[in-house]
Amino acid sequence: MTAMPTGRSLPRSKQRPSLPVIVNGDINTIDDADTALADSGADGLMIGRGAYGRPWFPQQVVHYFRTGQRLADPSLAEQYATVRAHFEAMLAHYGTETGVRMARKHLGWYSKGIPASADFRAAVNRESDADKVRNLLAGFFLPALERQAA
Ligand SMILES: Cc1cc2nc3c(=O)[nH]c(=O)nc-3n(C[C@H](O)[C@H](O)[C@H](O)COP(=O)(O)O)c2cc1C
Repeated sequence: MTAMPTGRSLPRSKQRPSLPVIVNGDINTIDDADTALADSGADGLMIGRGAYGRPWFPQQVVHYFRTGQRLADPSLAEQYATVRAHFEAMLAHYGTETGVRMARKHLGWYSKGIPASADFRAAVNRESDADKVRNLLAGFFLPALERQAA
């Protein structure tokens, strides 16, 4: 690591063209991403919390910058398939007991914006049994899918 010469301020990051600059923080929509890149002049961006419960969001941003088109969110059926796969992957990775606990916040994030999500979150947060969580997921998503089809 090279020390900065004393008495000199650090160069502004974009005055060092060999160093890629990444912007991040509160990028939760495509418009946020657009504005962050335009305002900062950064070379790229990172998304953190904006992908909670929406793992498809980074791909929507990539697609937008490549094509100018805004991809719709996945259908509710696809979201249900994604949350189930995420839950099973967490159980496989962490083991059932820890996995169920670690998955709670993610299941809550996936449920945002769907009717009765507060009740669903409260029930999931009390449940330690993986099969019962699977039932809670079905009891939450399947009626929402039926309502959508009606
Ligand atoms: C799950 C998660 C883990 C993070 N871990 C770190 C970390 O290890 N070190 C760090 O400097 N920032 C970490 N951050 C902060 C992010 O780099 C970023 O500054 C912050 O999340 C703001 O971006 P966001 O609004 O897109 O989430 C983490 C953020 C999240 C969501």
